[in-house]
Amino acid sequence: MARLRVAVLISGRGSNLQALIDAAADPAYPAEIVLVLSNAPAAAGLQRAAEAGIATAIVDHRGHATRHDFEAALNQVLDAHRVGLVCLAGFMRLLTARFSAHRQDRLINIHPSLLPKFKGLDTHARVLAAGEAKTGCTIHFVRPDMDSGPIIAQAEVEVRADDTEDSLAARVLAAEHGLYPRVLRALAEHRVHIDGDRVTVDGVI
Ligand code: GRF
Repeated sequence: MARLRVAVLISGRGSNLQALIDAAADPAYPAEIVLVLSNAPAAAGLQRAAEAGIATAIVDHRGHATRHDFEAALNQVLDAHRVGLVCLAGFMRLLTARFSAHRQDRLINIHPSLLPKFKGLDTHARVLAAGEAKTGCTIHFVRPDMDSGPIIAQAEVEVRADDTEDSLAARVLAAEHGLYPRVLRALAEHRVHIDGDRVTVDGVI
């Protein structure tokens, strides 16, 4: 069966991208990363893609007068690569309702908290300040509001008494690297169903 054609959108380091690249290196994996797109020309993840022989593109938001122009440029590149699913992985630009509606249920994001808790930035510092006993990461379909949208899967991580922001971030990031390839596999195997805002999964993620 044809592999799902996936674009990964990044702005920086690209460690989640790397986890997806590594998973998709197996020819039996049901998804193929056909494009890595960054809004930031210096994103380290672009190098990871190039090393894996994956097409890259830079759509610099600073070169576009409006969000609409920026997103039109994103769509042009995504369409040119006949992308079936877009994975956000540390993509640091907010997308408009128009963009997310156009790719409704074909656009997912990873966030380093157990949503709906701790949307936004600096999640680990806020988790520590709140005295949470556990945190984790979430992969969800993107909807217009930031870090909202139907949840596909979460992975939990314990918060330890001696955790710092860095130690907690590292533990959550390791969970992200485990979860993202599993979720992408489930999507590519058509085991994730969404009806309105309700997600059901056949089998395990
Ligand atoms: C991850 O923590 C992800 O959850 C968040 O941004 C970070 C990206 O890290 N959205 P990387 O670029 O994948 O290393």
